[in-house]
Amino acid sequence: MKRIGVLTSGGDAPGMNAAIRSVVRCAIHATLEVVGICRGYQGLIDNEVKPLDRRSVSNIISRGGTILKTARCPEFLTKEGRAKAFQILRKHRIDGLVVIGGNGTYQGSIALSKEHDIPCIGVPGTIDNDLNGTEVTIGSDTAVNTALEAIDKIRDTATSMERIFVIEVMGRKSGFIAMQVAVGGGAEGVLIPERQRDIPELCGDIVEGNARGKVSWIIIVAEGAAKAHDVAKEITERTSLETRVVVLGHIQRGGNPTAQDRIVATRLGAEAVNLLIKGERGKALGIVSDEITVCDLTFAIQKKELPVARICGLIKMLT
Ligand code: F6P
Repeated sequence: MKRIGVLTSGGDAPGMNAAIRSVVRCAIHATLEVVGICRGYQGLIDNEVKPLDRRSVSNIISRGGTILKTARCPEFLTKEGRAKAFQILRKHRIDGLVVIGGNGTYQGSIALSKEHDIPCIGVPGTIDNDLNGTEVTIGSDTAVNTALEAIDKIRDTATSMERIFVIEVMGRKSGFIAMQVAVGGGAEGVLIPERQRDIPELCGDIVEGNARGKVSWIIIVAEGAAKAHDVAKEITERTSLETRVVVLGHIQRGGNPTAQDRIVATRLGAEAVNLLIKGERGKALGIVSDEITVCDLTFAIQKKELPVARICGLIKMLT
C-alpha cells in the first residue's frame, strides 16, 4: 500500500470534513501518499483526482459539507461506469480507497471491488444513521440537533397560538431522525417509514387530547412515511382543527458538526487508514458502546433495526 484515495459520496453529512482530515493526516503519518477524489464516484469516472497534503485539510474539522464535494452517480450503477472508474484508479496508481458515505456509497464500493481488484474501506457518513453494525453515523448527531433547534422554536408559536404543527424531517427510508427529534422535542406523534401508523388513529389521539384540554400538538413526519402537507390536510378534515406545516428539508444536512460527529469522524478516519495498511478490504467501520467496530460492507448495508416499538410507546405515554 503506497498511495490511497479518499472520496465522499451520496448526501453530504456534517463531519465528513473531519473524516477527510483524519484520513489524510494519518495516511501521511504512515508515509502513504493520499489523493482526493472529487464529487464521489462521478468524479472518479471523470478523473477528478488531486493530491492532498497536510495543509490541504487545515481548518476543516469544524466545517459542514465536504471539501471534496459529493454527488449521486447513476453511471456508477453500471458495470461500464465502474470499469471506467477502475481505469482511473489504475492511472493514478491508487492501491486502496476510503469511501465516506451511506448505503449507496457502500453498495458502489461492494460492486467495484467484486469486479476489480481494489481494497475499499467504508466510513459511515450519513445523517440518516441507517447503516448496520454501528450505533452512530457521522452527521446524524448534528442533523438531529439542527432539527431539534427548529422544532423548539416552532413549539413556542404552536403553544402560543394553540395550533397543531406537522413537521417533516429527512429520512426517505429511515425514521431515525424523526424518532430522535420526536423524543427530544417532546412531540405528540411520529410517523416513520418503519411503522405503518394510521392517521385516523393519530386523529383519534388528537380529539381525545383536545377533550382533556391539550390544544397544541407537534407531529413529526419522516419524509419517507408521508408528505407533511397530506398529513396536515387529513388531520384538519378529520378533526376540524387548524394545522400548519413546516418542512425542514436540507438545513438538516448543513452546519458545523457537533463534538460527537467530529470525534467519531476523526477516530474512524484514522482506523480506515490502519485497516488498509493491514491489508483489509471490503470492511465498514462503526462505533458500538464507544468502541470502534469492523464489519463487512455487505453486512453494513442490511436493514438496520431501530427500537421503533419502544420509542413510539414512550411518545404515546408522554402525550
Ligand atoms: O443523505 C441522506 C438524505 O439526506 C436523506 O435523509 C434524504 O431522503 C435524501 O438524502 C435527500 O437526497 P437529495 O439531497 O439528493 O434530495
